[in-house]
Amino acid sequence: MLSRNLLERDNRIEHRQDQPATSEFARDLARALATRPRTISPKYFYDAKGSQLFDRICELPEYYPTRTELAILRANAREIAAQMGPRAEIVEFGAGSCAKVGLLLDAMDAPARYLPIDISGEHLAAAAASLRAEYPGLDVQPVAADYTQRLLLPATLPGAGQRVGFFPGSTIGNFTPEEALHFLQVAGQVLRGGALLLGADLVKDPAVLHAAYNDAQGVTAAFNLNLLVRANRELGSGFQLDQFAHCAFYNAPQQRIEMHLVSRCRQQVAFAGQWHEFEEGETIHTENSCKFTVEGLRALAAKAGFRPGPVWTDSQKLFSVHWLYAPA
Ligand code: TRP
Repeated sequence: MLSRNLLERDNRIEHRQDQPATSEFARDLARALATRPRTISPKYFYDAKGSQLFDRICELPEYYPTRTELAILRANAREIAAQMGPRAEIVEFGAGSCAKVGLLLDAMDAPARYLPIDISGEHLAAAAASLRAEYPGLDVQPVAADYTQRLLLPATLPGAGQRVGFFPGSTIGNFTPEEALHFLQVAGQVLRGGALLLGADLVKDPAVLHAAYNDAQGVTAAFNLNLLVRANRELGSGFQLDQFAHCAFYNAPQQRIEMHLVSRCRQQVAFAGQWHEFEEGETIHTENSCKFTVEGLRALAAKAGFRPGPVWTDSQKLFSVHWLYAPA
């Protein structure tokens, strides 16, 4: 009887864990459709399909950030590992396929543990499994969570070195400036006495930026439109997929790429028992990708309480990787 009760309780907890994610999406979509301009958080891109499409974006010839960041990490792995010191623990925010951390692990002196956090639990579990196979001695503990909501991490291991946050991919640029500051403040708290290794895409020729977010194969378009596919499937919305188009452009005054889903015609979309009007050309703003200067990023980090340390870039100054000390 006792065990049955426990089981029921466990089931209920599991159920509850699923529910908020879906109803949060429903709430945010309802809000997006009712507000002008229509804007929704990019975190909803990352269901299993979205995570897969994102991995393909990272390999596109036009999409320079992933390749460039990896090259920077590879070229400076020793120096970065020296900053980490022995038995460090890595906490990766938005780990996805855990494809970048290997470069660090290979160079590190006896890494103690790896805690990848990602909103797409399925994707993360698979990535963690293959990482365990590759690094048999490494303690890998995936955390399926939305790191923009709260950061609850296991206690540091006894005898471990410093805790190093890893936030690559210029995901910091997908936040609004206020969200970015808030994220850095929260990260600073969980990394106290350690550091954050952060990737940030740099301001550059708009033509290079434009190409990176408008690839010839249309993978970025599919990624953007997958948000509507997901909403139709999970929330029963009535988006007609062929009536929306991917649109990405550089907003120079704001130093950011903007991604939108544009209505191709005047139409109505059914959602949650209501009709939502779209004029031709009206958009849902799905993402920003802010670009930084090295100094701008360091100033932002300092404002959040970090002490900016070494910065590594590529020879063309496309991308930057920052070591930011988190005060004790
Ligand atoms: N953070 C990266 C960037 O802004 C990767 C990324 C997030 C991305 N969402 C994307 C790339 C959508 C292309 C399209 O570039």
